[in-house]
Amino acid sequence: MKGVVLAGGLGTRFHPVTKVVNKHLLDVFDEPMVFYPIRTLAQAGIRDVTLVTGEDISQFKRLLGDGSDLGVRLSYSFQEGERGIADALSRAEALVHGHPIVVILGDNIFQEDLGPYVEAFGDQGKGARILLKRVSPEDARRFGVADVADGKILGIEEKPQAPRSDLVVTGCYMYDDRVFEIIRTLVPSPRGELEVTDLNNVYIQEHTMTYDALTGWWTDAGTPASKLKASILVALEKGVTFHR
Ligand code: G1P
Repeated sequence: MKGVVLAGGLGTRFHPVTKVVNKHLLDVFDEPMVFYPIRTLAQAGIRDVTLVTGEDISQFKRLLGDGSDLGVRLSYSFQEGERGIADALSRAEALVHGHPIVVILGDNIFQEDLGPYVEAFGDQGKGARILLKRVSPEDARRFGVADVADGKILGIEEKPQAPRSDLVVTGCYMYDDRVFEIIRTLVPSPRGELEVTDLNNVYIQEHTMTYDALTGWWTDAGTPASKLKASILVALEKGVTFHR
């Protein structure tokens, strides 16, 4: 199994700071954001990881090098422009072709070891697997929301006004080696992007998508508020106490 970390995008929610620095190089507590998803893959037993990013690729190379400090062998792919998560993933094809993959969005911070879920996907053999997390109904609107019944996932709605459940799709996706073929069949959404939710819905429609619900905490760090929350959660995890 190979890993992919997606660290592109324009980071508009962090303007003006992200006019000059990639969002995934910003700090989450005491380390760059991008360290967390790479370590999560390493902890899950994945050694070969491809990082996909845009114009700032040389800064990532300076920071991460060959990945050995974080326990992985790192390769790099360039994504031109901002064409969505599924498009970013397609940039990794040449480096991971023919292998099942575990993809993590570069702004996602997971508390728990994802190893058991990755192992379950290995046993599954075919299709895809995603990780869901229960959040508050107000928070659900910011994410892909899963419609689940009897242990089966029926569909995902991206950022719905009226979420049908409080189970949201986290930024960890596992796919079999047909994923790039499927991405080529996707059409851009109204905002001009190849959406990861459209990709996931293809697997759901062919009944090969499974899921796990996370037990540990999870957060994205993709907005100023959620990045602050991520920093606090990591600090608490590291035993920091706050005094006032
Ligand atoms: C993306 C996905 C969304 C998912 C989220 C997890 O949203 O489109 O389905 O729930 O990541 O972090 P974005 O962060 O790009 O708005």
